[in-house]
Amino acid sequence: MNTIKLELEKALDAETSEAMKAIAPEIENAVNTLYSGSGAGSENLGWINLPAEINHDFLTEIESSANNLRRRCRFVVVIGIGGSYLGAKAVIEALLDSFASYRKDNKTTVLFAGHNIGEDYLADLQEFLEDKEFGLINISKSGTTTEPAIAFRLLKQQLENKVGKGEAQRRIVAITDAKKGALRTLADNEGYKTFVIPDNIGGRYSVLTPVGLLPIAVAGFDIRVLVAGAQNMMQQCKNSSIDKNIAAQYAAIRNVMYRRGKKIELLANFNPKLHYFAEWWKQLFGESEGKDGKGIFPASVDFTTDLHSMGQWIQDGERTIFETVISVENVNNTLVIPDDKENLDMLNYLAGKRVDYVNKMAELGTQMAHVDGGVPNIRIVIPAVRENYLGAMIYFFETACAISGYTLGVNPFNQPGVEAYKKNMFKLLGKPESK
Ligand code: PA5
Repeated sequence: MNTIKLELEKALDAETSEAMKAIAPEIENAVNTLYSGSGAGSENLGWINLPAEINHDFLTEIESSANNLRRRCRFVVVIGIGGSYLGAKAVIEALLDSFASYRKDNKTTVLFAGHNIGEDYLADLQEFLEDKEFGLINISKSGTTTEPAIAFRLLKQQLENKVGKGEAQRRIVAITDAKKGALRTLADNEGYKTFVIPDNIGGRYSVLTPVGLLPIAVAGFDIRVLVAGAQNMMQQCKNSSIDKNIAAQYAAIRNVMYRRGKKIELLANFNPKLHYFAEWWKQLFGESEGKDGKGIFPASVDFTTDLHSMGQWIQDGERTIFETVISVENVNNTLVIPDDKENLDMLNYLAGKRVDYVNKMAELGTQMAHVDGGVPNIRIVIPAVRENYLGAMIYFFETACAISGYTLGVNPFNQPGVEAYKKNMFKLLGKPESK
């Protein structure tokens, strides 16, 4: 059963349709390269069969660790950056009540740190946590990333001072490499509960490992349903026939667009809960494809919000963009626009209509305007923002990204470029050479 639909009609003119036919053999080749493990970076393909390999006992272990943290802590700070936080943040923000942080109930709330070097951010966080029951999930594959290391050092000290070393040990979970790295050594020395980030899964492909699953479970969401959604999508992504594989079709249209001068892809949503899903998507595609002087620039917008800021550029600016809209068929609530006697805002023509109906018309109107304005429009349609469809989208985008990267002619699993700023920063900071 298809949980996700891919609609390409509004991106296809006569020439693009021809180009899609022409690129099909390259795409099918890329699918075969990916699933046979014969391409560049094939040592990082642990994510490919992951949804099918996740078993009941593994999920039970994650759930029980999550329950332990939920019992002890009102707030759990997830410390990580890039692939070590964006997947969890994307899923949690998509599923969470938008005003959860203002509620006065006792549900455990997940906070994030270690994804910046903001002194004010960390100081605010420490002040906020001063009188709160909190715990930490420290996530770093390498164990040496500066941003999370600083945050962990500060928060670990704060927690130990507050509850004592013994209780702190019970409230800290480390997710890192099985054997190597500073965080592995620290966790073993301190006796923290640990989970492993498999060697053959890179950060941006790790959301279905404990990196994503533990924080998502702590936030109270159903990781079994999330994984089941990914499993379902996995079956069809393996199909080397482009007609039957929507990940391959998405990879094909992206490469066709790129070759026709569309160098920027805008991922748009009409549901603000998907904001961080786009942040995750940007890392996935940006780090995977932006190398060797090539790659579509992945950008994102939240509509209709950004129609009032970026709308002008999208409609009339340089014609180097195409748009991919994540369209949600059904919202989770019902809200009807009320009638108003005065009707000063002239809104009575919408009285009795659902807010989502207005949003859907905005979506359709935007599509028509952008296509008219020379912005090809791709739609990815999901039935609702729920765990199973998010799981399916995660696997869909991961696979599409790998196929797209191979078609572009890059290794989609490395990220040599991210070292450049670190080298300079370490030199400026006077970091001693590691022995
Ligand atoms: O995708 C990646 O590999 C990166 O974004 C990393 O996840 C990020 O730099 C964090 O690295 P680490 O988990 O080693 O701290």
